[in-house]
This record gives sequence, C-alpha cells and structure tokens, in this order.
Amino acid sequence: MTDASAVTPLPIGLDDGYAYTKVALPDGRLVVTPSRARIGRAGVTWVHQDRPRIFEYETEGTVYSVGAVEGAPTHFEGYPASGLNRVIIQHALQEAGLAGRTLHAVSGLPVSAFYHPTGEQRQAAIERKRHSLQRPVTPLTDTLPAGIAFHEVVPEALAAWYDDVIIESDGKARLDEARLAVPVAIVDIGGRTTDYVVVKNQGVLHNSSGSLQCGMLDVKQRVADGIQARFDLETLSESLVARAVERGSVRLQGTDHDVSALVDTAKREVVERIHAETRRQLGLGVELDRVLFVGGGTVALREHITDWFPHQAIAEHPAFANARGMLKYLRYVCEASDAA
Ligand SMILES: Nc1ncnc2c1ncn2[C@@H]1O[C@H](COP(=O)(O)OP(=O)(O)OP(=O)(O)O)[C@@H](O)[C@H]1O
Ligand SMILES: [Mg+2]
Repeated sequence: MTDASAVTPLPIGLDDGYAYTKVALPDGRLVVTPSRARIGRAGVTWVHQDRPRIFEYETEGTVYSVGAVEGAPTHFEGYPASGLNRVIIQHALQEAGLAGRTLHAVSGLPVSAFYHPTGEQRQAAIERKRHSLQRPVTPLTDTLPAGIAFHEVVPEALAAWYDDVIIESDGKARLDEARLAVPVAIVDIGGRTTDYVVVKNQGVLHNSSGSLQCGMLDVKQRVADGIQARFDLETLSESLVARAVERGSVRLQGTDHDVSALVDTAKREVVERIHAETRRQLGLGVELDRVLFVGGGTVALREHITDWFPHQAIAEHPAFANARGMLKYLRYVCEASDAA
C-alpha cells in the first residue's frame, strides 16, 4: 500500500443488511460477508495461526467475535446503530482488503426506518446510524482498522433506483434519461424486510412505499422449526439451516435427509405474504412503467415471483443492486454536490 492510498479516501457502497453485508468498490469488486457475530471472545486457539476463521474486534469496550461463529440474531430494533453492526461492517471491510484505509461510505436503512409514513425523514434514527459507523472499531489482531471518515445514509430500496438510472461506462457516469422520466417501483426482498419504493418525477411516492417485516430469514426460521419438530432436536446451528434451505436436504449424524417439501412450503408461505403486500402497495402497477426486483431474496425465490407483473424485471446481480447504487450515489450525487 502506498502512503497516498492510505490518505486518499476510497468511496464505497455499504449495504449492511440483516442477513448479509455487501460492499461495492470503485474497481468493480463486490464483496459479501454474512452479518454474523456475537459478543465475547472466540475461545478457540487456532492450530494454523495464519488461517483463523473467527476474528475478534473491540468497540466501545466490548469484544465481539465475527466470522465462523453461531451469530447472535441481527433482527432486533437497534441493530443498524449497534456495536454488533459496527464490528460486522469492520469485518466486511477487512475481508474486502481495506485494512488501514480511510473510507467515504453510503449505507442504508429500510424504507420504513428512514421515513415516517407521512414522508418526513426520521432524522434521529438516521443521525444515530450515521454517527455509529464513525465510532472506532479495533481489530484484536495486528491488522489496522478501516476508518469511515464520511458516512451518508439513504433508504435501501432507493439505492437500487440510483443503480438503475445512473449508468457507468468507460469510467464516466450518465443519467439514463428514459429511465429517469418514467415512474418505477423497486421491490427489495431481503433477509428481514421487503422494501418498496415508488419513484415518480424523481421523487418518492410515500403512499406506495414502505417495508414489510418479512424476508428470507422467515423462510429459514420456518425450516428450522420444521426440522426441529421432525427430528426432535432442541437446537440447530444457523449454518445447517442455511444449507438445508439452499440444498433441500439436511445432514444429521452422517445421514442425508430430504427436506425439500418443508423448504418449498416455507418459501410458499413467505412468498404469499410478500405477494399480498406487493398488491397492497402497488396494485397491478398500471401507472408504473416497470417493477424492478432486487435483493438476495429475489435470487432465492426467483421461480416463485416470475409472473407478478407483465412489466417486471430482475436487476443484474440483484443482491448487490443496493450496494452498487449506494456507491453511485456517493460518487455522482454526494461528491458532485460537495464539489459544487
Ligand atoms: N446468490 C444467492 N442465491 C440464493 N440465495 C441468496 C443469494 N444471495 C442471497 N440469498 C438469500 O437472500 C437472502 C437475503 O439476502 P440479502 O442480502 O438481500 O439480505 P439483507 O440485505 O441482508 O436483508 P435486509 O434487506 O432485510 O436487511 C439471504 O438470507 C439468502 O438466503
Ligand atoms: Mg437488503
């Protein structure tokens, strides 16, 4: 690393979701780490010191373990401004090779955490999140922390809209005038929340925007409950459940069991709730030009959401649409207005 790279702030998009933390970098790299950590030291001595799988960080006097741990649930109200969130983000930045770097970041809050139903911004919550990330986090290894010197917060699904309307090519950015001119809806199916944003004349229509507390973590919870009941188990690791949802089978005591019917039912139940909310928010979308689906849930539930609207589309690498849009917003909206 040169001295210049340590002092020149690097812009990043930082989509710190309840399930995964996604980082978009200006060189085009997209990095994802599970939002998984817990309070306390790892209590593990690594035989191969050079390849630890659990990493320890300290923030505001509390030590956390991040990485291959049984994570504490992130789905509690204060998560976006918590120490748990801060160490998970620091870990994601370390994984992205940003140790010792000074960063400028844009992150997000779910639409309903960002706006009051009337459309006013929830200033206190936004400021809490903005300041939280600027507090120091120290890695308890001999690596330097990545520091966030500037941090702005946008509504999560709106970031995907910026991603859609700002087109980058040959290192330059331009606005796609045709996309900018028409009303669109963004549906972001995430881990804990499904976010809706309708943008018309470059403004958010608040009576068709908001968040439903439902996403892929609900699928995982239902599958976990089903496996526990069927095999009479008291506890299940989160990674085992994640694998069961991905593969439709679960390996217990050396034997594979087919749980695909259970996974399918869990997905259908969650899809039904999201579908009902989508109709409530958007109706048939007759006045919209396009309905754009983003978020990791869009990938996981792809075959269940194929025919909701005749004018629907799925973003490219949908799980990263928000992170890409946050980076574009930082580079072409925030920094452009700073320079003006
Ligand atoms: N490439 C993929 N293939 C299959 N499933 C995926 C993929 N990426 C993500 N998922 C699933 O989608 C879920 C949601 O991922 P996403 O990254 O959108 O959540 P999040 O942004 O952390 O959640 P929230 O937006 O609620 O904070 C994950 O829990 C995972 O199960
Ligand atoms: Mg998300």
